[in-house]
Order: sequence, then C-alpha cells, then structure tokens
Amino acid sequence: MKRLKLGVLASGGGTNLQAIIDRSIAGKLNADMVVIISNNSQSGALKRAHKHNIDSFHMSTFTEGDEDALDRALAQKLKDYNVDLVIFAGYMKKIGPVMIETFPGRILNIHPALLPKFGGKDMYGIRVHQAVLEAGEKESGVTVHVVDPLYDHGSILEQRKVPVLEDDNPEKLAARILVEEHKIYADVIQRLAEEWKE
Ligand code: GRF
Repeated sequence: MKRLKLGVLASGGGTNLQAIIDRSIAGKLNADMVVIISNNSQSGALKRAHKHNIDSFHMSTFTEGDEDALDRALAQKLKDYNVDLVIFAGYMKKIGPVMIETFPGRILNIHPALLPKFGGKDMYGIRVHQAVLEAGEKESGVTVHVVDPLYDHGSILEQRKVPVLEDDNPEKLAARILVEEHKIYADVIQRLAEEWKE
C-alpha cells in the first residue's frame, strides 16, 4: 500500500479538509496532506493549514494574473510537492486543462448531493439543498467523484444516501449531509491508497 501525498484545494471553511487531517493524525488514513492551496486568502482552510503546520499558498487569478496562468501555477505547485492525489474540498473555481492533463484521474471532488442530480455550474453550497427540498426529494446524499473538465461530472467513486426529513430546511439538510461528507472523503482516499497502482 502506498502512503499517498495529498494536495488540497479549498475555498471556504475547510471542514472537509479538517476531517481528512484528523483521520490522518489519528493514524487511520494512509496519506499525508503535504500542501493546501486556497483562492481565498482569508479562508478557514488556510487557517487550518497554519494550525497544523502544513505548507499553504494563496493562489488565484489575482495572484497569478489570469485563469490560464493560475491553471499552470496550480499544476506546477502540486508537482513541486510530488502530490499523488489532488483533493478538492469546497473549491469553487473551475479547473483548467493543464491541471487535468497533469493529474489524469487523480483529482477528486466532493459534492453534497447524489450526482448527477443537483450538480453542475451554480449548483453549490446551500443552493444544492434548496433545490433538493424544492424538488420534493425524499433522500439526498453525498458524492465523491473524479474531476473532469465539466462541473460535478467525472466518474463517481462513491455515494452515500442521507434521508430528507419532514421538517427539513436547507440548513438542517446541509448539516446532516456534511456529517457524512466528513466520513466518506477519508474513506475513499483510504480505499484508493490500498488499491494504488503507479
Ligand atoms: C461541502 O459542502 C462540500 O460538499 C462542498 O463545499 C462544502 C465545503 O465545506 N464542495 P468545507 O469548506 O469543507 O467546510
């Protein structure tokens, strides 16, 4: 089994990132987070990186100039750290072609719904759960998938269902799903580590 080097891209609070760090620290994940990159210099994700002494960088179209330059800079930075798997943990930017060709099949994303339903451009955050409730779904869930050039579209690695309850509102449903997110992501990474073939 290979001990994987993880590079994480996150835009927000970073609770998914934290869940992976915790599992790794507990010795229950055969992976180390070696670099954390955020397009938001004030993100909780970067604060968590500092707290755990994990190298981190603020990289965005602002710091790199434009989308193409950011795409190339991200791929280079992750290569510099010899990353095996790129983990999107609430990363809101669209991925570029250089990243896709540098890490073919090696970039994962987590989405708080049962893709392919309730995914795609603009379907993120609380909007996902609002749409699920408006559609009258009886269940929702979480999906971990491989990232391809389209939003929330790559091959699905694992999904877990979460019930929608009578008195749910988007916030309650989001919180229930987030609990599952914090378990499934590390589980999938562990399984990939166990099955890893160079
Ligand atoms: C999660 O709901 C995840 O499904 C989505 O963005 C959110 C990230 O939350 N991609 P956090 O920043 O990890 O707390």
